[in-house]
Amino acid sequence: MTSPVDVAVTGGAGQIGYALLFRIAAGDLLGPDVPVRLRILEVPQAMQALEGVVMELQDAALPLLEDVETSDDAATAFSGASLALLVGARPRGPGMERGDLLAANGAIFTEQGRALQDAAGDDIRIVVTGNPANTNALIAASAAPDIPRERFTALTRLDHNRALAQLAARTGARVADIRRMTVWGNHSATQVPDLTHATVAGTPATELVERSWVRESFVPTVAQRGAAIIAARGSSSAASAASATIDHARDWLRGTPEGDWTSMSVVSTGAYGVPEGLVSSFPVTCADGAWSIVEGLELDADVAAQVRASVDELEAERAQVRELGLVG
Ligand code: NAD
Ligand code: LMR
Repeated sequence: MTSPVDVAVTGGAGQIGYALLFRIAAGDLLGPDVPVRLRILEVPQAMQALEGVVMELQDAALPLLEDVETSDDAATAFSGASLALLVGARPRGPGMERGDLLAANGAIFTEQGRALQDAAGDDIRIVVTGNPANTNALIAASAAPDIPRERFTALTRLDHNRALAQLAARTGARVADIRRMTVWGNHSATQVPDLTHATVAGTPATELVERSWVRESFVPTVAQRGAAIIAARGSSSAASAASATIDHARDWLRGTPEGDWTSMSVVSTGAYGVPEGLVSSFPVTCADGAWSIVEGLELDADVAAQVRASVDELEAERAQVRELGLVG
């Protein structure tokens, strides 16, 4: 057994939190030999519901779960954390415009960015799942200038996993046979699921599926999947979002498999013409707790145009939060 790791989770009384906390406590993120101390942040109105979740965590008698602390104060919850999974966010309510959502969440992610800088461990790594995830990560990073930029990431792994599932179903392959899927851009309807570099059991995916299927079915199905789940379930994806958050953090900390890559939204280094500093999704490999963008891929003309449009949307969101004084 190694020493325990402090993992902070925000929004622990919410839907995603309910799935996520048990998966972490079962060892799915850090591995079967690493004990975990959960540090859960909620808003004051949800602390009672959170107490119920903590009772259930205790009742699961999970051997790796060493401790659970809860708080409605961000600095207390983030104290000494090595990993922070920022899930809690204000959902869009009736009559709310995207700008209102950016402002409401901007305040939350500014406060949490500051608290991470003040209280988290020196090795802190941050994954933003709460929407709008890419711009929330940008806001948190701006509020924490002493934390290296590359420690702030946002979740596009759910989109990546959705793309794997669609391609597997179309080709009759197993998800495990697919390598080198990519999602570019924003976690929004403009995202770009890209199978042009993917292989299925070693065969290029482009040899197995028609371009018309990619354009008319694959891309829109993956990009609209969040909305389809809301329409079917009456609330947004939760277990799959928790699973993707685990996949993202696990691969970052423990490495991507040899010969494959994943999709993560990271602070752009300027790669593929994405303006430096924007939090955008790229193909990345991870090793020793660090990610690197896969460089040198040729972008198909259709993909390149779609990536530009998604990056334009990210730039527009950045302009909006700049106007609100939330990023420099
Ligand atoms: P939910 O409403 O069920 O739960 C959110 C929880 O966050 C609530 O318990 C709420 O009290 C808490 N919260 C709100 N503000 C907080 C704050 N300042 N500090 C701490 N906790 C706070 O929502 P959910 O279904 O769990 O989804 C959470 C977020 O994840 C939403 O923004 C949703 O849109 C987003 N999401 C992202 C992806 C993705 O792929 N990136 C996928 C699914 C959902
Ligand atoms: C998702 O992708 O399922 C979430 O981001 C929810 C949404 O609003 O699409």
